Amino acid sequence: MERQEELKAAAAKEEIWKYAYGFTDMAVVKCAIELGIADALERHQAPMPLAQLSSILRCSSPHLHRIMRFLVHRQIFKEDSKGYVQTPISRLLVRNGEQSMAALVLLESNPVMLAPWHGLSARVQGGGASAPFTTAHGSDIWCYSAANSAHSKMIDDGMACDARLWVPAVVDGCPKLFDGLRTLVDVGGGNGTAMRILVKACPWLCGINFDLPHVVAAAPDCVGVEHVAGDMFHGVPKADAAFLMKVLHDWGDEECIQILRRCREAIDKDKGKVIIVEAVVGEEENEEDNNNRLEYARLSLDMVMLAHTDTGKERTKSEWTHLLTRAGFTRFTFTRIHAIPSVIQAWP
Ligand SMILES: C[S@@+](CC[C@H](N)C(=O)[O-])C[C@H]1O[C@@H](n2cnc3c(N)ncnc32)[C@H](O)[C@@H]1O
Repeated sequence: MERQEELKAAAAKEEIWKYAYGFTDMAVVKCAIELGIADALERHQAPMPLAQLSSILRCSSPHLHRIMRFLVHRQIFKEDSKGYVQTPISRLLVRNGEQSMAALVLLESNPVMLAPWHGLSARVQGGGASAPFTTAHGSDIWCYSAANSAHSKMIDDGMACDARLWVPAVVDGCPKLFDGLRTLVDVGGGNGTAMRILVKACPWLCGINFDLPHVVAAAPDCVGVEHVAGDMFHGVPKADAAFLMKVLHDWGDEECIQILRRCREAIDKDKGKVIIVEAVVGEEENEEDNNNRLEYARLSLDMVMLAHTDTGKERTKSEWTHLLTRAGFTRFTFTRIHAIPSVIQAWP
């Protein structure tokens, strides 16, 4: 019995190691992206021994060996008798791949985004109105980005990673969502990645990608998508329906109500609707949810909101219902899809 208690205590201590050294996963994956390990293996298309990899990457072999040993142990790369090989995870770390998630890792592991995490407890203790991001950098994340074009690009590229993952899940999970719509405005659409994927999947749609002027100015051209600059608190371009993905979670209820009112003014009075793609936290998980993996991601995103935004948060279904009712919507539906967010449709 005593021995069992000792083993449990040792296991608990090992669990704490996760919190002491959990950052190594992020740091080493960031290092792998910066070195271009996945890119080199992808180009080679065959197992690559350490000597060849370190020569291509111009790295110190003993150091690279230790990095690779860690990454193989974490099952990010594999190693067979002929050398290192890609896995489905490492393929997502290829810098310019269509499915690449590298930009998201580089964004969140950037010192500007990491610094605010040191202020999390201070915010909770002080009930602070300002996010640790604002305290650390002297302006909120959107003003900071407007003044720092490199950071703005990093945010746009990072957000595009989720858009590439989430938008196909939205189309799969709600195949009739865009039926009957001719024009769609993506409010806070970033560099237009979501709209680019949507008009390709639903070629009858004319897309408007609407965002702040500095974001739209850097957005690449895309057939079927018009970029429009503006401020969603002041007005939203007219369209049959408005699409808001990962935007409302950046803001508190009063700001969300303003944004939603601007969307209601912009959409068609009869067939118009607002489509919101956001996390809904605290829902029963289905079996496919793989051991609460998605809920962990949603709650992690809520912590990101606490650290990076002044008023943002992830919301439960009843918080969404309350918010949409206050914003004057009379009918809404929630649809779970095979991804972190749900699809919320709201009609005026
Ligand atoms: C978290 S990002 C989401 C981007 C995109 N919807 C996506 O899911 O990839 C939030 C977006 O809101 C935009 N934004 C912030 N304030 C805005 C405003 N006042 N008017 C329009 N867009 C704004 C930001 O520039 C940013 O692109």
